[in-house]
Amino acid sequence: METTRLAVVSNRLAIVVEKGNDGKWMIKSGSGGLVTALGPVLRDRGGLWIGWLGSNLQGSMDDGALEELLAQGSRETGYSLKPVDLTQEEIQKYYFGFSNEILWPLFHDLPSRCNFDPAYWRVYEQVNAKFARAIAENTGEEEDYVWVHDYQLILVADQLKKMGVNRHTGFFLHIPFPPLDGFIRLPWRFQILEAMLQYDLVGFQTVRDRRNFMDCVRMLIPGSKVIGHGQVARCLTPKREVLVGTFPISIDFKQFAEFAGTREVQDLAWIIHANLPERQLILGVDRLDYTKGIPHRLLAFANALERYPELRRKITLIQVVVPSRQDVPEYEALKHEIERLVGEINGRFTEVGWTPVHYIYRSLNRVELLAYYRTCEVALITPLKDGMNLVAKEFCASSIENNGVLILSEFAGAAAQLYNGALLVNPYDIEGVADAIYEAFIMDGETRHARMEKMRRSIQKNDIFHWVNAFLRAGIAKDLSQFPKAEF
Ligand code: ADP
Ligand code: G6P
Repeated sequence: METTRLAVVSNRLAIVVEKGNDGKWMIKSGSGGLVTALGPVLRDRGGLWIGWLGSNLQGSMDDGALEELLAQGSRETGYSLKPVDLTQEEIQKYYFGFSNEILWPLFHDLPSRCNFDPAYWRVYEQVNAKFARAIAENTGEEEDYVWVHDYQLILVADQLKKMGVNRHTGFFLHIPFPPLDGFIRLPWRFQILEAMLQYDLVGFQTVRDRRNFMDCVRMLIPGSKVIGHGQVARCLTPKREVLVGTFPISIDFKQFAEFAGTREVQDLAWIIHANLPERQLILGVDRLDYTKGIPHRLLAFANALERYPELRRKITLIQVVVPSRQDVPEYEALKHEIERLVGEINGRFTEVGWTPVHYIYRSLNRVELLAYYRTCEVALITPLKDGMNLVAKEFCASSIENNGVLILSEFAGAAAQLYNGALLVNPYDIEGVADAIYEAFIMDGETRHARMEKMRRSIQKNDIFHWVNAFLRAGIAKDLSQFPKAEF
């Protein structure tokens, strides 16, 4: 296993290319859970990353300059970067269309938000074939393990086979897998399911996601069965044998914990608190996405101020929203809704010297993000559905004095690991979330400490390196005897 090179394949490359204020092109580290998770791993192991550069640079930058930037990126990241170019039509129909208007809402149990436009499917197939060609050109059958990530690239192994290219392949789904009655609405349900079964190993975030997948396989592919109940099991269909496993993704705990204690983070944390004195700060940090439950959360915050007047002037919600998928109409509408709600709550409750909601709409740099994690006593993370939610784990890792309280949605994958320390809530239950805000507010130091310590210990033990090793052990070694029994 140690000699096998790793080829990571994901929709986005680990870097983005942008024009700086001086008009010069520059590279920046990408955002989102996937890059945050895999960056440290590839840096340590070496290998290559195949992906899309994230914006259509064709025509706006000459090839030589791009090559130079990629070489610089490879030097800085410590692994090679292989870009896949997408045309405007491909970006619209494969990325915004099939990936983000069909698979994303469907897999997050929000089928009414799906736009099952038949024109999207053909382009989704075409782009997955493009990624398969890039893999064929940059990897070899013997020396590489090809690890494909997420819903944008489900068809890659199938496309490789159609091209007659043999590779050892694994696939990890970072988002939830829906229950059978949701999945069967997908017009391409057989193609998607069959394509997932073309990988040698398919990994899910939670036991529930894997169970949903197996229910779909059993129902839609007659004659299929599952053998074994451990973290990794065997799925047998009349045509194939595939490993299916549960691998909850995590973070580089040590890096977060150490960085949270640095002088620059502490100084900024102090400045934030000095500007918002004598009150508890509650933090929400999310990409702008309807799965994150931001409007429900704002309503719950207002409900807490309404039903527990003693909270007024004593708590402030800092809601950070990171711009995302701006070409999908649903996302634009959501931004307006959030801004309307923030305005309404502030209009209703603001008093001299106290603004209840501080709303930040931009990406933060690392120091800023960590400073907010450290300053805020409570994190309010209430997605309607989430594959994992790394922000929850990052908040705990950064709570180095063990004094943070995590309010966490039952429907985040992270709840399966953090249930023993977090205040678990149903994000649809506005009064229930408001009660949890109050409970966090009055929680004594000792209880906070004990709860946070449990969560930190669990994340420290099951960190990002543990996740990668578990997946690669299953994918490359295929020795299932070493895996513990799954906690169903
Ligand atoms: P998702 O992958 O759906 O965006 P996650 O919570 O799993 O949700 O991952 C989000 C990632 O983005 C985290 O690793 C977090 O550090 C990063 N992030 C969150 N907020 C910001 C921000 N304001 N600026 C920059 N990065 C952020
Ligand atoms: C989630 C998905 C990732 C995606 C990220 C950011 O974490 O699971 O695959 O990269 O969101 O979304 P974006 O559409 O900007 O890549």
